[in-house]
Amino acid sequence: MTRTVVRKAKTAARCEACGAAAAKWVGRCAECGAWGSVIEVEVAPSPSAKLGAAVGAGAVPIGDVDPLGAARRPTGIGELDRVLGGGLVAGSVTLIGGEPGMGKSTLTLQALGAMTAAGATALLVSAEESPEQVRLRAERLGALDPKLLVVSETSLPNIVALVESIAPDVLVVDSIQTIADPDIAGVPGSMSQVRDCAHALVGLAKARGLATVLVGHVTKEGNLAGPRVLEHVVDTVLQFEGERHQGLRMVRALKHRFGATDELGLFEMTGTGLAEVVDASAMLLTDRCIGLPGSVVAPMLDGARPLLVEVQALVSESVFSMPRRTAQAFDTGRLAMLTAVLHQRVGVGVDRHDVYASIAGGVRVDETGADLAVVLATASAFLDVAIAPDTVALGEIGLGGEVRAVGQAPRRLAEAARLGFARAVVPRSTPDIDGLELIRVATVSDAIAQLLPVDAPRPTRQSAANGAPTPAQVRRTADDNHNTRR
Ligand code: TYD
Ligand code: MG
Repeated sequence: MTRTVVRKAKTAARCEACGAAAAKWVGRCAECGAWGSVIEVEVAPSPSAKLGAAVGAGAVPIGDVDPLGAARRPTGIGELDRVLGGGLVAGSVTLIGGEPGMGKSTLTLQALGAMTAAGATALLVSAEESPEQVRLRAERLGALDPKLLVVSETSLPNIVALVESIAPDVLVVDSIQTIADPDIAGVPGSMSQVRDCAHALVGLAKARGLATVLVGHVTKEGNLAGPRVLEHVVDTVLQFEGERHQGLRMVRALKHRFGATDELGLFEMTGTGLAEVVDASAMLLTDRCIGLPGSVVAPMLDGARPLLVEVQALVSESVFSMPRRTAQAFDTGRLAMLTAVLHQRVGVGVDRHDVYASIAGGVRVDETGADLAVVLATASAFLDVAIAPDTVALGEIGLGGEVRAVGQAPRRLAEAARLGFARAVVPRSTPDIDGLELIRVATVSDAIAQLLPVDAPRPTRQSAANGAPTPAQVRRTADDNHNTRR
């Protein structure tokens, strides 16, 4: 008996609500949890099977390829151009993601104002706000050039038609989550709509050499349909972040096909839009309380940008059986470890005290280079002795209480010298820096011995209260510990 094998067309499944792909039909989408939204779709044969001889026909020597990126159009906003490596590249698509209220619409409108003032024609598709609302804001931001055209439109085909008739140099779509293609299943903002609309706009940008900016909302968890699914579709992904109630805003590139991703752009939200923060370190140190115990400045790096931040610590006798370690804009686990090192390796008796550490100014520090500053600020707060205000501290701390080298120390320390700091406590291997006296230390005990003057010890508030050791006693313990452990 012969058997005929009937080959069925290959099928797979896709969720109409969120766009997630599945191997076969199921009743409930595993991705978004919607019931009855999964449909079977036919899988097209792989294009690579058909390519065959065509491969190689369009290949050219790499040196003969036209370099993209030559046609960069500055946005006119220095801090944004810094992150973009000079401006928006013609034919490229940039996604600006961030939580609502960060200032994405403000920044894009300011950039469009500057670009149109410089001669470009721009189309702003404001799918979230009416043209009247945009105009009010534009007045405040000084972006009223007649070459800036604004339309409130949510339909993708209409947007494409507008671009084709106006032929702008720059297109901004605010936001990608609010536009939709009526030919695609799913509500605006669903994964399939966001992805397919973005694909269409990328195609449009490439075909017309149009610099395109898409605005996308991200929630705190970063899981709203949008920016995450778009990251591989676009050329550049910029992230807008900051504490909503503090003025400082940061823009960084998470992905950039036309330049480096390690530049940081800094802004401050003001009554007239986002103001560039050119001298970030100076701004972050403006409100410093000079001469206060528990304060140490640390030279940090955010990407390639040096930032001087003030590390503050407060130590108070604990009423809890498990004393608290609370860190703000810094890792709490790291603070607990550093406090343990202070207690076990140096003999600073903070084990029955609550320790609070904070990075002042709204910048988060996620690098171990701040360890030495945190430890010194904590010791300074505990001893109630201030560290000389013209001193910065840089170094990672190991569990043995040793001070370890940190990457790009010269760059960080040069920034400290530029801002007028005179001394730096640093790991032993640090090379000399012009204009800065270096205090090279091997251990935390070394650093404390050199920085916290004990000649005229003042009783600490803690010692008055509970008979804890005076600074001189702590110093002796610290030195003994250090000597016996060496
Ligand atoms: P917006 O740009 O609308 O944020 P996003 O588009 O990211 O959601 O505005 C952010 C906030 O900034 C908004 O709450 C109002 C405030 N703002 C100012 O403080 N000054 C200004 O000049 C502007 C335009 C906005
Ligand atoms: Mg907005």
